[in-house]
Amino acid sequence: MKNSKIKRREFAKTVSVAGLGLTLQTSSFANPMKKIDKTVRFGVIGIGNRGTHLMKTLLSIEGVEIGGLCDIDKSQLDNAINICVEAGRKKPEGYYKNEQSYRQLLDREDIDAVLIATYWDSHAAIATYAMEQEKYPGIEVPAALSLKECWDLVDTSERTGVPCMMLENWSFRKDNLAVLNMIRDGLLGEMVHCHSAHSHDCVDHWFFDAKDGHQRWPAKYLINYNRDQYPTHGLGPVLSWMDINCGDSISQIYSSATASKGINAYMKRKFGDDHPNAKLKYKQGDIVTSTLKTQNGKTIIVNYDMQLPRPYDNRWMVQGTLGIYNEQRDAVYLTDKSPKYHEWEPFKLYEKEYLHSWWNKKNSSGGHGGVDSLELELFVKAVRDKTNTPIDVYDSVTMSAVVPLSGLSIEKNQPVEFPDFTRGKWKGRKPYFGV
Ligand SMILES: NC(=O)c1ccc[n+]([C@@H]2O[C@H](COP(=O)([O-])OP(=O)(O)OC[C@H]3O[C@@H](n4cnc5c(N)ncnc54)[C@H](O)[C@@H]3O)[C@@H](O)[C@H]2O)c1
Repeated sequence: MKNSKIKRREFAKTVSVAGLGLTLQTSSFANPMKKIDKTVRFGVIGIGNRGTHLMKTLLSIEGVEIGGLCDIDKSQLDNAINICVEAGRKKPEGYYKNEQSYRQLLDREDIDAVLIATYWDSHAAIATYAMEQEKYPGIEVPAALSLKECWDLVDTSERTGVPCMMLENWSFRKDNLAVLNMIRDGLLGEMVHCHSAHSHDCVDHWFFDAKDGHQRWPAKYLINYNRDQYPTHGLGPVLSWMDINCGDSISQIYSSATASKGINAYMKRKFGDDHPNAKLKYKQGDIVTSTLKTQNGKTIIVNYDMQLPRPYDNRWMVQGTLGIYNEQRDAVYLTDKSPKYHEWEPFKLYEKEYLHSWWNKKNSSGGHGGVDSLELELFVKAVRDKTNTPIDVYDSVTMSAVVPLSGLSIEKNQPVEFPDFTRGKWKGRKPYFGV
């Protein structure tokens, strides 16, 4: 069945439509809870914290089977297999021998799709291999770390016809989708400017171990690089708000970074001056600010803010010729609509009025207030129906490319060109996300 003609033809149909820049059956995403008629068989690669959560979410979706699991850490694998068995499911096949063992899982003919939640540096290689084997890859953030990896994902998806999606869950938030509906309804006028951030102190639990401060796998990126390490959560909703890759395109990025103070200060405070990680030199500045410019004259500011003590925030703000939405204030101001001149009004009523159809029947239970299950339900539906994924390969790599490009811009201390991953198709592509 691998490379079977029928499957190849189905995928080819998908990509030829994508190649023309047309919207792909977006209406079929309207009700993700619709009754299913084909079991979709998944593999999950990398079943640490996030992978285990994604796997549990998959188990809660009707018509999904976990066919295989892969992790280089056998204890993680065994734990995940047990979860499946305890849920009354068929015991999935396990793969764990080495960093290439995922290939055995992806070589299987009965697997339709795979979720990838490994370390950052293996995401693109695994996803590329998955597409070669005609499996839909759902890749955790970021999808790629270098421009070469970004292009590998685009080229492989276009050549094989297999859609590819980065699992940027914040694109599916109820509030962000309501803002998208308001923008599409013209309430904010013509789009001009956006702010977004990933403000999340992860030094005290994710980059380093909370108990003894030892380096976890992502810590090496703070030692060796100075860039926006995690731009996709901020950018996720912004891409569709600003019609990026569908009528507009990012042309340039200019990034700057502050000095690196937060990690050393935290280590000293928590573990004392003599802790090896308290003395270490980190390349990564505490705050990175990137300004993205678009072909049509919009600007987008993205902030990396993950190593100073602070509560979680995404600091979204979007501004057009008729008004403004501000997530931190939970407020909007809309010309000729808001009751008082130049005064904020609460966003909540608008969120209700402009509730996206994806949230119509959705309850807010599960990871991230139901966002993760909505995202995966839509991904599963795309796999089952063999349509394009709710976030396509161009948007996936556009968000990810900010990682290497911000690093390059900081190093050169000048703006750098942002590649057009659609190769000009953005001019004719109609908005597809959440349509
Ligand atoms: N979207 C979100 O809200 C969200 C939240 C947390 C993490 N993440 C992302 O999820 C990914 C994983 O993060 P995490 O916190 O779960 O890390 P983790 O360390 O808990 O899990 C990673 C797992 O991948 C396994 N692994 C690494 N390389 C492998 C390979 N080649 N083959 C098989 N297994 C391999 C490791 O053994 C580990 O169990 C990262 O990309 C992270 O950015 C996303």
